[in-house]
Amino acid sequence: MRSTRRVRGWSRSVRSMMWLAVLAAGLLALAACSPGPSPAEAPMATEAAVEEPAAAEMPAEEPAATEMPAEEPAATEMPAEEPEATEMPAEEPAATEMPVEEPAATEMPAEEPAGAMQGDPAAGELVLAAAVGCGCHFNGDLGALAGGNKFEGDFGVVHSRNLTPDLATGIAGLSDPELADAIRYGKRPGGGNLFIMPRYAGMADEDVYNLIAYLRSLEPVENPIPDRDLAFDPPAYEGEMAAPAVAPTDPVERGAYLASLARCGMCHTPVDESGSPIEGMMLAGAPFQNTVAPNLTPHEATGLGLWGEEEIAAFLATGLYDDGMEPHAAMKQVADRGTSRLTDADRLAIAAFLKSLPPVENLPAPPQ
Ligand code: HEC
Repeated sequence: MRSTRRVRGWSRSVRSMMWLAVLAAGLLALAACSPGPSPAEAPMATEAAVEEPAAAEMPAEEPAATEMPAEEPAATEMPAEEPEATEMPAEEPAATEMPVEEPAATEMPAEEPAGAMQGDPAAGELVLAAAVGCGCHFNGDLGALAGGNKFEGDFGVVHSRNLTPDLATGIAGLSDPELADAIRYGKRPGGGNLFIMPRYAGMADEDVYNLIAYLRSLEPVENPIPDRDLAFDPPAYEGEMAAPAVAPTDPVERGAYLASLARCGMCHTPVDESGSPIEGMMLAGAPFQNTVAPNLTPHEATGLGLWGEEEIAAFLATGLYDDGMEPHAAMKQVADRGTSRLTDADRLAIAAFLKSLPPVENLPAPPQ
């Protein structure tokens, strides 16, 4: 039954189903969306995902790092999709004859509202890493952020969007503000709200526009995305809309900021039956698949009390414990696609943030 009621009219069960679906999708983000032979086929049922997060199927052995789009010569490319760009492609000799126009190559399209920001693709690549590669959009077959990964459940079917700047099938036709609203608040370009897509509401203005500039600098990949078919209209974002203009620089605050973009809490914070994070238990460890995502608070006996900040940062850089052991595949992938691609300073900031948390005594037990 297709519900036409709006957010406020939603029944509790629909809401909680949505919550679980979003939660499951979050877990799945690192699984079904991981580069693999057939990520587009990965099914997801909400109930199954709750009892047994689908991330269990994560192909641990995937050499994700080599397939990530990060290696692309992002910064040097022009946003070829912009209408203006077609008039002065970067390789055009004429470009040298119009030096006045040259800076415009990296600028926002002329139709952007005044005051819109101009992003820096190279900086945006680091934002992508902080968001763990926007992995749901990574199409393993195409080797690009070309979307098309399928999410299916009681809620219906939805495919991740093509984030490359292809005109017909990607983001080329969307404005920066449209993309920013989609990334931060899940607003669907053209109306309605995105489903599954996390809300990066706290992402600083500068980081959003840098991320968008990075996406626009990618090689356009044509990959038509099927229309979605959902059992209900996803609700509008109702949370805080107070993103800072620029990301924090104080190490602890910056670490908190990065941990929120990377959604460390999605696995490491325990949730109640409705899927909401438990008060006072932020990053205090939670059951995860057949194991646990350990307590990251500095509690000595049950958390990271005995880990130094350098040690935490090294773990996030290498995706390996100091004895050379690999962590569980889910965490390995967070490191490979995310934290290993950050700067040393940013990894230390995450470590400083974790060490600043109030120690919580909690030794989560793996699910039965
Ligand atoms: C997809 C789920 C998931 C996400 C997201 C995630 N982790 Fe983990 N993390 C795990 C799991 C599972 C383990 C346990 C690995 C093992 O035991 O092999 C782990 C282990 C760790 C450990 C080692 C702790 C110990 O006591 O062994 C640290 C440190 C850590 N994660 C930090 C982070 C940080 C920081 C983030 C965010 C940047 C993060 N994790 C995001 C699932 C996750």
